[in-house]
Amino acid sequence: MNKFRFEYFASCPVGLENALLEEIQSMGTKEAKITRGGVSFEAFHEIALRVILYTRIASRVYKYLYQFEVRNEKDYYLEATDIKWKSLMEVNQTFRLNTVFGDLPREREEFRNSQFSNLKLKDAIVDYFRHFEGERPSIDKENPDVVFLARIERGVELPYSVTLMLDLCGAPLSQRGYRISKTEAPLKENVAAGLLRLASWDPKTEGLLDAMTGSATIAIEAALIAADIPPSFLRVERALRQPNYRIWNFQSSPWLLKDSFLKENFQKLLAEVHEETEAGLASLAKLKNKIVANEKSEMVYYSAKENIRKARLEGIIELTLGDALDTKPNTDKTLFICNPPYGERLQPGEEEELKALYKGLGDRWKHEFKGHRAALFTGNFEMLKVVGLKTSKKHILHNGDIECRLAEYNLY
Ligand SMILES: C[S@@+](CC[C@H](N)C(=O)[O-])C[C@H]1O[C@@H](n2cnc3c(N)ncnc32)[C@H](O)[C@@H]1O
Repeated sequence: MNKFRFEYFASCPVGLENALLEEIQSMGTKEAKITRGGVSFEAFHEIALRVILYTRIASRVYKYLYQFEVRNEKDYYLEATDIKWKSLMEVNQTFRLNTVFGDLPREREEFRNSQFSNLKLKDAIVDYFRHFEGERPSIDKENPDVVFLARIERGVELPYSVTLMLDLCGAPLSQRGYRISKTEAPLKENVAAGLLRLASWDPKTEGLLDAMTGSATIAIEAALIAADIPPSFLRVERALRQPNYRIWNFQSSPWLLKDSFLKENFQKLLAEVHEETEAGLASLAKLKNKIVANEKSEMVYYSAKENIRKARLEGIIELTLGDALDTKPNTDKTLFICNPPYGERLQPGEEEELKALYKGLGDRWKHEFKGHRAALFTGNFEMLKVVGLKTSKKHILHNGDIECRLAEYNLY
């Protein structure tokens, strides 16, 4: 089994790796490198905790545990029984296993499905504990104490390489906790934060108009950025209120529990996030450049309102009900950002409607937003052409499984 050069892996939506790298480097990591869909980094444990509480871009953070190569699934079981599982979890803790496959030979005989691979690993863990402790830990698929991730890909010396990781997060970090009212096709919160970063939005010099706001994700992320409020602020509030409730998986991991210095550091970090949140919320009252969220559907407008309230940003984000095609700049310099419907399952006649919307955006920008900027995020590349304006930059970014574009426009 190998020792890793990098200790942690932070995953993120494809297309945001550079943004995540910059973010992680700014937090004091020793070394970091990009891989598709994330960043591996070396850091003191307390920096890893900081990344978990402060990252706006990462989906999850994992700790690398072991790497080994195997010929087949039987080898996998045998190698896995050699791991000192006792140092990774207690027998009375519950666990869950996830397996993902990287690049593997197409005609492979082994590792055909993740459920079977999970079963092999589960057998190894259970047999290990039965042997050394006389009893076994249980699986909990919903709310386990400990989550392991196995990434299986093509090996160098043997056909398959296995990387075992400890999921330090549990629920994805993108779930900030303010989206209490559901709307259709909401963006993940870290994708919304990533859009603002890719578009180089600077709250000191530009206002923001999230013109088709849906659940208000972009506008809320913008306000958090403008006030330097850590994205974990609502989770941290709960952690301070209910210290025995597990919010992140690392809280029940020996990684934290057996390290009193780290535990102390975690408490300090919680206090820091709390202070920064209060200071940030207070500073928003003096925000120079407005953040406006606009929505056409009345029902969705009320959902956005609920979410803004939950994020403690009522009265900070100005929420309007109306058509994006009737909006106007709200500051001397405004970034008009929008995430219009992509039109995945269009009924007859709806394509024309969608075209009118995208063309309408281009026209509106040309006539009403001269001297401002626009950024449009969509998975419908045909519709991008319909906008009819020259883009100044285009970024490729995945929204779940959909490959999308963020198109930027300088409007003259
Ligand atoms: C893909 S969703 C936006 C999702 C949003 N970014 C979020 O994170 O929840 C598109 C939104 O645009 C709204 N919409 C569609 N046409 C509009 C228009 N002409 N003006 C304003 N909003 C519109 C829809 O009601 C829907 O809420």
